[in-house]
This record gives sequence, structure tokens and C-alpha cells, in this order.
Amino acid sequence: MTADASARALDAVARTRAGAELAAAEIELLVADFVAGRVPDYQMSAWLATVACRGLSRAETVALTRAYVTGGETLDFAASGRVVLDKHSTGGVGDTVSLVVVPLVAACGVAVAKMSGRGLGLTGGTIDKMESVRGLRLELDTDEVYRMVDQVGMVITGQSASLTPGDKATYALRDVTGTVDSLPLIAASIVSKKIAVGAHGVLFDVKTGAGALIPDQDRALELAHLMVGVATGAGLRCRAVLTDMSQPLGYAVGNALEVHEALDALRGREIPGLTGLCRTIAALMLRSADPGLSAAEAERKVDDALAAGAGYEQFLRWAVAQGAEPGVLEEPGGLPTADNQVRVVADREGYVSEVDPRAIGTAAMNVGAGRLVKGGPLDHSAGVVLRRRVGDRVSAGEPLAVIHHRDGVEPPVDLVRGAFRVSESAPAEPPVVLKII
Ligand code: URA
Ligand code: CA
Repeated sequence: MTADASARALDAVARTRAGAELAAAEIELLVADFVAGRVPDYQMSAWLATVACRGLSRAETVALTRAYVTGGETLDFAASGRVVLDKHSTGGVGDTVSLVVVPLVAACGVAVAKMSGRGLGLTGGTIDKMESVRGLRLELDTDEVYRMVDQVGMVITGQSASLTPGDKATYALRDVTGTVDSLPLIAASIVSKKIAVGAHGVLFDVKTGAGALIPDQDRALELAHLMVGVATGAGLRCRAVLTDMSQPLGYAVGNALEVHEALDALRGREIPGLTGLCRTIAALMLRSADPGLSAAEAERKVDDALAAGAGYEQFLRWAVAQGAEPGVLEEPGGLPTADNQVRVVADREGYVSEVDPRAIGTAAMNVGAGRLVKGGPLDHSAGVVLRRRVGDRVSAGEPLAVIHHRDGVEPPVDLVRGAFRVSESAPAEPPVVLKII
């Protein structure tokens, strides 16, 4: 801690509180001072809390984004000679999209580099899901990342800790000071990681509804526009989709269960909610890579790849190249399976009018599919598989969902049953893609 840096931090707090705009260089210095330990946690917390209340201008948000990247490792795919894309979701219950879209887009000839995190709370992380696959290595070094993109056209790996030091240090504070929920702070945090990954473009999947980081649709839309604006300003080709998270996505919620669901989707099985969203996202990514492609051409490419199982073949090729045992994904029992499967049945006849994603996410977490604390253990085989989604008919005694759990774990039957509302009349089915930006 130094007196100069402290004085500057206090000045930043006072001016942000007063509604003044900080210069880019001031924001860069504040973050650099904090990362270097010259500004203490409590002063940085005060500035973050002030930002959470007062907001930041677009220019300040851009400066904060760049400040997070400064001093960290950044990747550069220029040498690969091809367009490389990334995809990011703000997190949803049973969000199996990356597992489908990354191989699907790669099968259509566009390279994808996906650096993912682990899950915490109700929403799972892609790395946790992929860890269900025996042998698969998910902590690659930079050379391996480049090699996978060159040789296999895709990579999915955990994020290097040295990517965005400013975000890493700041996020740890936000997490414990109630300042995660601020649009400019979220946008800077997410976009900085996308810049550091070095892909040429990124597709943002911004979730909204009860199970999302930002439940309110207008605010989620604002975040989508902000991220696209900041990332486009940094030279990335960007598109965003605003998607519904008022019920879990697809049927499966849980790590190996979602890998299984992704493989089914890639083999051409139509999974309500999931397949349609993956087609939309994949087509948008193809058009980011090749702006000359029409929407109809992009959609046809994606549909052809699905019909031919090309994304499935790509998934297998990628998994083996990244260390999975050959054949493990094709043999029955190759993925971990739970000791027990408990059906949760409807007690009345009607139409499913609601499936609360938070209750299903909590149930999955309670049987071990998610972690309550950072670094906590996971049971890859555990989770919940819906048998009915919003709009489906059900008779008394028919299954609403199946809980997968290991011996010794109490299945949260009441919690899962309580997530479903069954009504007499058919509800309007919510569209999954609410907006394309
Ligand atoms: N995810 C991130 O990476 N950062 C945020 O601020 C919120 C969600
Ligand atoms: Ca799912």
C-alpha cells in the first residue's frame, strides 16, 4: 500500500460518486495499483460499490475492460491463418449449448476456441461437464491450445489464471462485497476475458428469466448491448442472443447427463429448447466468420451438419485428440452413471405450465451435480432429467422428472415436484430466443 496510490483511489471514489467521468488512464492506474497491492481491498471495494450504484460511462467501461487485460497473458491466433471464434454464456440451469455448438460450428469449418470456467451455485460450468469424460484433459497450455485449433479446429479448456489479472483480483472482491450485480462491472469482466483469449469474434448468449444472473429482461438486454458495444469497440466481431431461462434448457441438468444430452443433439435428436437455440447460435457464428453468408445459407450448413452427424464425429475426434479414451463416448456406461434413478410423478392431470429452474438447479446441486463452495466436490453422474417441459401434457402418475443420485444421498423429491406447476389449460410456450443483437 502506498500513500500516493491510496490518495488516488480515494479521489476516484469521490469523483465517481459525484457523477464525474474518470479518464481511461486513471482507471488503468487504479486497477494496476490494486493488482500490485498499492491500493487496499477496502478502497477498491468502495470504488466498486460506488460504480454498482452510479454506473460507468461507455468510455469508462471500455477503459476498465482494457485495464483488466493489462499485465496478463493474451493469446493470438493470427498464425493459424483462419478466423477463430469464441462463445460465452452468462450461465443457465442445464445450459448444454457449448457442448453442442462448439463441435457443430467446428464441423462446419469454423474454428472455435472456448476457455471455460467451473460451475458455482445453480449453473454448471462447461469444464465440470466435460470432466465426466474419462481421460479428457481440460487444462491445456497455450501451445496445446494453438495446436488443437490448428489440427482439430476446436479446443475447450479451462481458463489460465494469468489471463486477466485485474478481473481475477477484482472479481474475488465483488464476490464478497455484493457488487457482482452491476452491468458495467459484469460487461468489463466478461469482455476482458474474451479479449485475452484472442479469438477474432465472440457470440454472447445472455440469459434472462428466473434462472438467470439477470432475471429482468430489460436489464439483460442492456447487458447484451453493452457487451456487444464494448467488444466491438475492441475489434471483435460480435453477436448476442437474449435467451429464455424461465425453465431449464433441454431435459438434462447435471454433468455427465448433459454430455449425454449434447451427444444426442449432435446425432440429430431434436431436444426441445436446446436444439433450436444451438442452431440459431451456430448459424450466427458461421455468419460472423463469413459475413458474405446469408442467414438461409448458414442455417442450411448447420442443418446439414446435424443431419449428417458431422458435429458428433467432430466431438469424438476432438475428445480423443484432447486425451479421452477412444471409444469411451460410444460404449454404454462410458460416461459415469448414478447408482439410483428416482422418478418424480405428477399427482394430477393437465399441462405443465411452469418448471422453476432455480428449484431444479438446487435439486441437482443437492444430489452433487453442483458445488456450494468454490473447489467443492462434484458427483459427475448426478442430476435431474426432466421428462416434461412447459407446454407438455401429463397424466396423474406419469413422470415429471427423474433424479439421478448415488447411494447415501437423499433424493429431493418434494423439491423437484414443487418445481412443476400443472394447470388445466395449455400455457403459451415461451420462445427460447427472445432477441438477436
Ligand atoms: N461472469 C463473469 O465472468 N464476470 C461477471 O462479472 C459475472 C459473470
Ligand atoms: Ca440441458
